Amino acid sequence: MVLTEKVLQKPLVTGAGGFIGSHLVRELLNRSDTQVIYCVDLPNSKRLKEFESNPRVKVIELNLNSESSIDGLPSDATCVFALAALNGTSRFYSKPFTVFESSIFPTLNVIRKYGELIPIVYSSSSEVYASTVTNFGGAIPTSESVIPSIESIHNPRWSYAAAKLAGEVAINSAAIEFGTNCSIVRYHNVYGPDMGSDHFIPDFVGRAKSGVFEVIGALESRAFLNVLDAVQGTIAAIYHAKESVPIYHLGSNQELRILDAAQIILDEMGLGDKEINLVPSREGSVARRVSDSAKAKEVLKWESKIDFRAGIRNYLDSEAS
Ligand SMILES: NC(=O)c1ccc[n+]([C@@H]2O[C@H](COP(=O)([O-])OP(=O)(O)OC[C@H]3O[C@@H](n4cnc5c(N)ncnc54)[C@H](O)[C@@H]3O)[C@@H](O)[C@H]2O)c1
Repeated sequence: MVLTEKVLQKPLVTGAGGFIGSHLVRELLNRSDTQVIYCVDLPNSKRLKEFESNPRVKVIELNLNSESSIDGLPSDATCVFALAALNGTSRFYSKPFTVFESSIFPTLNVIRKYGELIPIVYSSSSEVYASTVTNFGGAIPTSESVIPSIESIHNPRWSYAAAKLAGEVAINSAAIEFGTNCSIVRYHNVYGPDMGSDHFIPDFVGRAKSGVFEVIGALESRAFLNVLDAVQGTIAAIYHAKESVPIYHLGSNQELRILDAAQIILDEMGLGDKEINLVPSREGSVARRVSDSAKAKEVLKWESKIDFRAGIRNYLDSEAS
């Protein structure tokens, strides 16, 4: 069953004050079928200030870790985009328990509130299968048929992956028990304007600005997905939410070594002549990550469109303004 346009009349976005969530809200505001958007995030989210005066936006400040938070959620939402989570690689190491609980409870609580009522898109991550690729020879590019795994419960690197996987299990369990129509989207290295600082791109740009041209894990490769592409795939996934819970890998097909991505960034910063110092990868870091997004192309009629160099130019322009 493909859900009708009405499903987007009153979407609720958790993590709406986050990087991807705020871009999703902007895109939903562009749509004439969306009457009101419920934007849920922790109190005092800076990005949500932009939307506060918009009559089509209702900002709801809630900590979704608490079970009672569901009393503050609206009953007339028509679908949920469940994006709330705590990510950022440095936190996986420094606050693994907080990462774990903050990535699970918001998902459980939206299921408790809406599981019997409306469709849900759950935002998962390529991290859920990263260990399979590294340790068990999982195919690259990687499709949705890959078996998820985590390498070790003792390495805090995997706190986030385990939590995202638990979210996938929770979503699928809701579909079985309550008949919820769901889709799972697994994002692959999303980047773009206002992405915060705890990612390779802003980190590298910040250090390059201060004269440090250092790349960690330079020979690893990634396919960076522009956030504007990511939100289009996310919206498409709500129309294909089903009890059978399809998973979609949303990623770019433009694989780049981190070193080559760094060189493009330096070129676009006008620093293309600088020599890059190579620093070894961190423990548990994934050597190669590329999505096979053929299923999203076939079912959602979605594929990434924004070239990395163009996306970086746009990112740098947005940082300068
Ligand atoms: N950015 C990526 O490359 C990427 C890759 C894979 C998956 N994802 C997933 O996509 C989603 C969005 O990622 P993002 O990069 O925008 O992250 P983000 O950290 O920018 O946004 C997440 C938002 O969730 C909110 N949040 C966290 N805990 C909450 C709670 N208890 N109650 C209410 N709100 C809470 C945060 O305040 C934040 O605004 C996450 O679920 C993440 O796991 C992102």
